[in-house]
Amino acid sequence: MESCSDLPATARKLEGKVAVITGGASGIGECTARLFCRHGAKVVIADIQDELGKSVCDELGPAAASFVHCDVTNEDDVSNAVDHAVAKFGKLDIMFNNAGIGGAPTHNILKCSKSDFERVLAVNAVGPFLGTKHAARVMIPARRGAIIATSSLAGVVSGAASHAYTCAKSAVAALTRNAAAELGRHGVRVNCVSPAALATPLAERYVGLRGADFEAAMESAAVLKGVRLRPDDVANAVLFLASDDARFVSGLNLVIDGAFSVVNPSFDLFNDGENPA
Ligand SMILES: NC(=O)c1ccc[n+]([C@@H]2O[C@H](COP(=O)([O-])OP(=O)(O)OC[C@H]3O[C@@H](n4cnc5c(N)ncnc54)[C@H](O)[C@@H]3O)[C@@H](O)[C@H]2O)c1
Repeated sequence: MESCSDLPATARKLEGKVAVITGGASGIGECTARLFCRHGAKVVIADIQDELGKSVCDELGPAAASFVHCDVTNEDDVSNAVDHAVAKFGKLDIMFNNAGIGGAPTHNILKCSKSDFERVLAVNAVGPFLGTKHAARVMIPARRGAIIATSSLAGVVSGAASHAYTCAKSAVAALTRNAAAELGRHGVRVNCVSPAALATPLAERYVGLRGADFEAAMESAAVLKGVRLRPDDVANAVLFLASDDARFVSGLNLVIDGAFSVVNPSFDLFNDGENPA
Protein backbone atom coordinates (compact mmCIF):
# COMPACT_ATOMS: atom_id res chain seq x y z
CA MET A 1 0.00 0.00 0.00
CA GLU A 2 1.21 3.53 -0.81
CA SER A 3 2.56 5.38 2.22
CA CYS A 4 4.16 8.76 2.96
CA SER A 5 6.08 7.26 5.86
CA ASP A 6 9.88 7.07 5.93
CA LEU A 7 9.75 4.80 9.00
CA PRO A 8 10.19 1.04 8.69
CA ALA A 9 6.86 -0.79 9.01
CA THR A 10 7.82 -2.21 12.43
CA ALA A 11 8.38 1.29 13.84
CA ARG A 12 5.02 2.68 12.68
CA LYS A 13 2.61 3.02 15.57
CA LEU A 14 -0.54 3.87 13.57
CA GLU A 15 -0.27 1.60 10.53
CA GLY A 16 -3.70 1.27 8.92
CA LYS A 17 -5.41 3.70 11.33
CA VAL A 18 -7.63 6.58 10.22
CA ALA A 19 -7.67 9.90 12.09
CA VAL A 20 -9.59 13.17 11.99
CA ILE A 21 -7.63 16.15 13.29
CA THR A 22 -9.52 19.38 13.90
CA GLY A 23 -7.35 22.47 13.68
CA GLY A 24 -4.95 20.38 11.60
CA ALA A 25 -3.93 23.21 9.27
CA SER A 26 -1.54 24.88 11.73
CA GLY A 27 0.51 24.51 14.89
CA ILE A 28 -0.01 21.43 17.09
CA GLY A 29 -2.64 19.94 14.75
CA GLU A 30 -0.47 20.27 11.65
CA CYS A 31 2.53 18.78 13.43
CA THR A 32 0.39 15.89 14.68
CA ALA A 33 -1.01 15.27 11.18
CA ARG A 34 2.53 14.98 9.81
CA LEU A 35 3.61 12.66 12.66
CA PHE A 36 0.50 10.47 12.30
CA CYS A 37 1.21 10.05 8.57
CA ARG A 38 4.85 9.12 9.28
CA HIS A 39 3.42 6.42 11.54
CA GLY A 40 1.26 5.02 8.78
CA ALA A 41 -2.11 6.69 9.51
CA LYS A 42 -4.53 8.20 7.01
CA VAL A 43 -5.45 11.68 8.16
CA VAL A 44 -8.40 14.01 7.56
CA ILE A 45 -7.50 17.61 8.35
CA ALA A 46 -10.64 19.48 9.42
CA ASP A 47 -10.16 23.22 9.69
CA ILE A 48 -11.53 26.62 8.68
CA GLN A 49 -8.24 27.63 7.00
CA ASP A 50 -8.94 25.95 3.68
CA GLU A 51 -5.85 27.00 1.71
CA LEU A 52 -3.44 26.14 4.52
CA GLY A 53 -5.17 22.83 5.27
CA LYS A 54 -5.18 21.83 1.60
CA SER A 55 -1.49 22.68 1.20
CA VAL A 56 -0.57 20.45 4.18
CA CYS A 57 -2.63 17.63 2.62
CA ASP A 58 -0.98 18.20 -0.77
CA GLU A 59 2.42 17.76 0.86
CA LEU A 60 1.33 14.57 2.60
CA GLY A 61 -0.23 13.20 -0.59
CA PRO A 62 -3.79 12.18 -1.49
CA ALA A 63 -3.34 8.58 -0.35
CA ALA A 64 -2.41 9.73 3.15
CA ALA A 65 -4.33 12.94 3.81
CA SER A 66 -7.53 14.71 2.87
CA PHE A 67 -8.84 18.16 3.76
CA VAL A 68 -12.40 18.97 4.77
CA HIS A 69 -13.70 22.42 5.62
CA CYS A 70 -15.00 22.25 9.17
CA ASP A 71 -16.00 24.90 11.66
CA VAL A 72 -16.03 22.94 14.92
CA THR A 73 -18.84 25.12 16.31
CA ASN A 74 -21.12 23.84 13.53
CA GLU A 75 -22.54 20.37 14.23
CA ASP A 76 -23.21 19.61 10.55
CA ASP A 77 -19.57 20.42 9.72
CA VAL A 78 -18.25 18.15 12.48
CA SER A 79 -20.61 15.34 11.52
CA ASN A 80 -19.53 15.76 7.89
CA ALA A 81 -15.81 15.60 8.83
CA VAL A 82 -16.36 12.24 10.53
CA ASP A 83 -18.43 10.95 7.61
CA HIS A 84 -15.75 12.20 5.20
CA ALA A 85 -13.12 10.08 6.99
CA VAL A 86 -15.33 6.99 6.78
CA ALA A 87 -16.22 7.60 3.11
CA LYS A 88 -12.64 8.37 2.04
CA PHE A 89 -10.64 5.94 4.19
CA GLY A 90 -13.24 3.38 5.32
CA LYS A 91 -13.42 3.98 9.11
CA LEU A 92 -12.44 6.23 12.00
CA ASP A 93 -9.96 5.05 14.65
CA ILE A 94 -8.72 8.35 16.10
CA MET A 95 -10.46 11.67 16.70
CA PHE A 96 -8.16 14.53 17.75
CA ASN A 97 -10.31 17.43 18.94
CA ASN A 98 -7.62 20.06 18.78
CA ALA A 99 -9.01 23.20 17.09
CA GLY A 100 -8.94 26.21 19.36
CA ILE A 101 -8.67 29.97 19.65
CA GLY A 102 -7.04 32.18 22.25
CA GLY A 103 -9.76 34.80 22.37
CA ALA A 104 -9.13 38.29 23.68
CA PRO A 105 -5.97 38.48 25.85
CA THR A 106 -7.86 40.34 28.57
CA HIS A 107 -7.25 39.44 32.19
CA ASN A 108 -9.51 42.04 33.80
CA ILE A 109 -12.98 40.57 34.23
CA LEU A 110 -14.52 44.04 33.95
CA LYS A 111 -13.14 44.25 30.42
CA CYS A 112 -14.11 40.73 29.32
CA SER A 113 -16.97 40.79 26.83
CA LYS A 114 -19.80 38.26 26.88
CA SER A 115 -19.39 37.76 23.13
CA ASP A 116 -15.68 36.83 23.48
CA PHE A 117 -16.46 34.48 26.39
CA GLU A 118 -19.17 32.75 24.35
CA ARG A 119 -16.99 32.50 21.24
CA VAL A 120 -14.07 30.94 23.14
CA LEU A 121 -16.45 28.47 24.82
CA ALA A 122 -18.03 27.67 21.44
CA VAL A 123 -14.77 26.83 19.67
CA ASN A 124 -12.74 25.41 22.56
CA ALA A 125 -15.40 23.48 24.51
CA VAL A 126 -18.48 22.97 22.31
CA GLY A 127 -16.14 21.97 19.44
CA PRO A 128 -14.57 19.06 21.38
CA PHE A 129 -18.05 18.05 22.61
CA LEU A 130 -19.31 17.81 19.03
CA GLY A 131 -16.14 16.02 17.93
CA THR A 132 -16.49 13.50 20.75
CA LYS A 133 -20.19 12.98 20.01
CA HIS A 134 -19.74 12.32 16.29
CA ALA A 135 -16.62 10.21 16.75
CA ALA A 136 -18.57 8.11 19.27
CA ARG A 137 -21.36 7.72 16.71
CA VAL A 138 -19.05 5.64 14.49
CA MET A 139 -16.70 4.25 17.16
CA ILE A 140 -19.41 2.67 19.36
CA PRO A 141 -20.61 0.27 16.63
CA ALA A 142 -16.97 -0.52 15.77
CA ARG A 143 -16.32 -1.21 19.49
CA ARG A 144 -12.96 0.59 19.38
CA GLY A 145 -11.44 4.03 19.01
CA ALA A 146 -9.31 6.69 20.62
CA ILE A 147 -10.60 10.20 21.22
CA ILE A 148 -8.08 12.85 22.27
CA ALA A 149 -8.59 16.55 22.94
CA THR A 150 -6.24 19.46 23.43
CA SER A 151 -6.90 21.04 26.79
CA SER A 152 -4.23 23.31 28.32
CA LEU A 153 -2.11 24.05 31.34
CA ALA A 154 -4.62 26.90 31.77
CA GLY A 155 -7.22 24.25 32.61
CA VAL A 156 -4.97 22.84 35.35
CA VAL A 157 -3.57 25.92 37.12
CA SER A 158 -5.28 29.24 37.72
CA GLY A 159 -3.98 32.61 36.64
CA ALA A 160 -2.47 31.39 33.36
CA ALA A 161 -4.97 32.76 30.80
CA SER A 162 -8.26 34.62 30.39
CA HIS A 163 -11.39 33.53 32.23
CA ALA A 164 -12.94 32.36 28.96
CA TYR A 165 -9.93 30.25 27.90
CA THR A 166 -9.49 28.83 31.42
CA CYS A 167 -13.16 27.82 31.66
CA ALA A 168 -13.14 26.28 28.18
CA LYS A 169 -10.01 24.21 28.80
CA SER A 170 -11.28 23.06 32.22
CA ALA A 171 -14.46 21.95 30.45
CA VAL A 172 -12.41 19.92 27.96
CA ALA A 173 -10.67 18.07 30.81
CA ALA A 174 -14.04 17.39 32.48
CA LEU A 175 -15.58 16.21 29.22
CA THR A 176 -12.60 13.87 28.75
CA ARG A 177 -13.20 12.21 32.13
CA ASN A 178 -16.96 11.96 31.66
CA ALA A 179 -16.74 10.63 28.12
CA ALA A 180 -14.12 8.08 29.24
CA ALA A 181 -16.58 6.94 31.92
CA GLU A 182 -19.35 6.48 29.37
CA LEU A 183 -17.48 5.16 26.35
CA GLY A 184 -15.20 2.65 28.08
CA ARG A 185 -17.94 0.01 27.93
CA HIS A 186 -17.82 0.34 24.13
CA GLY A 187 -14.04 -0.11 23.96
CA VAL A 188 -13.47 3.58 23.22
CA ARG A 189 -10.68 5.40 25.07
CA VAL A 190 -10.89 9.14 25.78
CA ASN A 191 -7.91 11.25 26.88
CA CYS A 192 -6.61 14.79 26.64
CA VAL A 193 -3.29 16.61 26.62
CA SER A 194 -2.62 19.84 28.51
CA PRO A 195 0.42 21.61 27.11
CA ALA A 196 2.11 24.64 28.61
CA ALA A 197 2.59 27.60 26.27
CA LEU A 198 4.44 26.99 23.00
CA ALA A 199 5.09 29.23 20.02
CA THR A 200 2.21 28.74 17.58
CA PRO A 201 0.15 31.44 15.82
CA LEU A 202 -2.55 31.15 18.55
CA ALA A 203 -0.17 31.64 21.48
CA GLU A 204 2.06 34.21 19.76
CA ARG A 205 -1.02 36.37 19.11
CA TYR A 206 -2.20 35.94 22.68
CA VAL A 207 1.14 36.68 24.37
CA GLY A 208 2.31 39.30 21.87
CA LEU A 209 5.76 37.72 21.40
CA ARG A 210 7.05 35.60 18.54
CA GLY A 211 9.47 32.72 17.95
CA ALA A 212 12.65 32.80 20.04
CA ASP A 213 11.42 35.78 22.12
CA PHE A 214 8.27 33.84 23.02
CA GLU A 215 10.27 30.72 23.92
CA ALA A 216 12.81 32.66 26.01
CA ALA A 217 10.00 34.27 28.02
CA MET A 218 8.41 30.86 28.68
CA GLU A 219 11.73 29.26 29.60
CA SER A 220 12.45 31.93 32.20
CA ALA A 221 9.25 30.90 34.05
CA ALA A 222 9.72 27.15 33.53
CA VAL A 223 10.61 24.60 36.22
CA LEU A 224 12.33 22.31 33.72
CA LYS A 225 15.25 24.25 32.24
CA GLY A 226 17.17 23.64 29.04
CA VAL A 227 14.17 22.34 27.08
CA ARG A 228 11.78 24.48 25.08
CA LEU A 229 8.31 23.04 24.51
CA ARG A 230 7.66 22.55 20.80
CA PRO A 231 4.68 21.24 18.76
CA ASP A 232 6.60 17.96 18.29
CA ASP A 233 6.50 17.34 22.03
CA VAL A 234 2.71 17.62 22.06
CA ALA A 235 2.34 15.57 18.87
CA ASN A 236 4.42 12.77 20.42
CA ALA A 237 2.16 12.71 23.49
CA VAL A 238 -0.91 12.57 21.24
CA LEU A 239 0.71 9.77 19.21
CA PHE A 240 1.18 7.78 22.42
CA LEU A 241 -2.47 8.25 23.44
CA ALA A 242 -3.69 7.39 19.94
CA SER A 243 -1.58 4.25 19.61
CA ASP A 244 -1.88 0.78 21.08
CA ASP A 245 0.96 1.72 23.46
CA ALA A 246 -1.83 3.40 25.46
CA ARG A 247 -4.38 0.62 25.00
CA PHE A 248 -5.36 0.62 28.70
CA VAL A 249 -5.04 4.40 29.16
CA SER A 250 -8.35 6.26 29.34
CA GLY A 251 -9.61 9.28 31.28
CA LEU A 252 -6.08 10.71 31.46
CA ASN A 253 -5.19 14.38 31.27
CA LEU A 254 -1.56 14.18 30.13
CA VAL A 255 -0.03 17.44 31.31
CA ILE A 256 2.98 18.54 29.21
CA ASP A 257 4.45 21.30 31.33
CA GLY A 258 7.85 20.20 32.65
CA ALA A 259 6.41 19.95 36.21
CA PHE A 260 5.20 23.57 36.23
CA SER A 261 1.75 22.70 37.59
CA VAL A 262 3.01 20.52 40.45
CA VAL A 263 5.38 23.10 41.95
CA ASN A 264 4.34 25.97 44.20
CA PRO A 265 7.14 28.51 43.57
CA SER A 266 6.40 30.40 46.80
CA PHE A 267 8.23 27.63 48.74
CA ASP A 268 11.44 28.04 46.71
CA LEU A 269 12.84 25.10 48.72
CA PHE A 270 15.40 23.94 46.15
CA ASN A 271 16.88 27.36 45.45
CA ASP A 272 18.86 27.66 48.69
CA GLY A 273 22.42 27.44 47.39
CA GLU A 274 22.64 23.65 47.85
CA ASN A 275 21.31 23.07 44.34
CA PRO A 276 23.27 25.18 41.85
CA ALA A 277 21.62 25.25 38.42
N1 LIG B 1 0.12 27.10 21.65
C1 LIG B 1 -0.07 26.98 22.95
O1 LIG B 1 0.63 27.61 23.77
C2 LIG B 1 -1.13 26.06 23.46
C3 LIG B 1 -1.03 25.59 24.78
C4 LIG B 1 -2.02 24.75 25.28
C5 LIG B 1 -3.07 24.38 24.47
N2 LIG B 1 -3.16 24.87 23.20
C6 LIG B 1 -4.29 24.45 22.38
O2 LIG B 1 -3.77 23.76 21.26
C7 LIG B 1 -4.75 23.74 20.24
C8 LIG B 1 -4.10 24.04 18.91
O3 LIG B 1 -3.65 25.39 18.93
P1 LIG B 1 -2.23 25.85 18.36
O4 LIG B 1 -1.47 26.39 19.48
O5 LIG B 1 -1.65 24.80 17.51
O6 LIG B 1 -2.68 27.12 17.50
P2 LIG B 1 -2.84 27.37 15.92
O7 LIG B 1 -3.47 28.70 15.80
O8 LIG B 1 -1.54 27.13 15.24
O9 LIG B 1 -3.86 26.22 15.46
C9 LIG B 1 -5.21 26.28 15.75
C10 LIG B 1 -5.97 25.74 14.55
O10 LIG B 1 -7.36 25.70 14.90
C11 LIG B 1 -8.09 26.17 13.77
N3 LIG B 1 -9.39 26.68 14.18
C12 LIG B 1 -9.66 27.81 14.89
N4 LIG B 1 -11.00 27.96 15.01
C13 LIG B 1 -11.57 26.90 14.39
C14 LIG B 1 -12.90 26.48 14.17
N5 LIG B 1 -13.94 27.19 14.62
N6 LIG B 1 -13.11 25.33 13.51
C15 LIG B 1 -12.07 24.59 13.02
N7 LIG B 1 -10.80 24.95 13.17
C16 LIG B 1 -10.55 26.10 13.85
C17 LIG B 1 -7.21 27.27 13.19
O11 LIG B 1 -7.56 27.57 11.85
C18 LIG B 1 -5.83 26.65 13.33
O12 LIG B 1 -5.47 25.89 12.19
C19 LIG B 1 -5.83 24.74 20.68
O13 LIG B 1 -6.92 24.04 21.21
C20 LIG B 1 -5.14 25.53 21.76
O14 LIG B 1 -6.05 26.09 22.67
C21 LIG B 1 -2.20 25.67 22.67
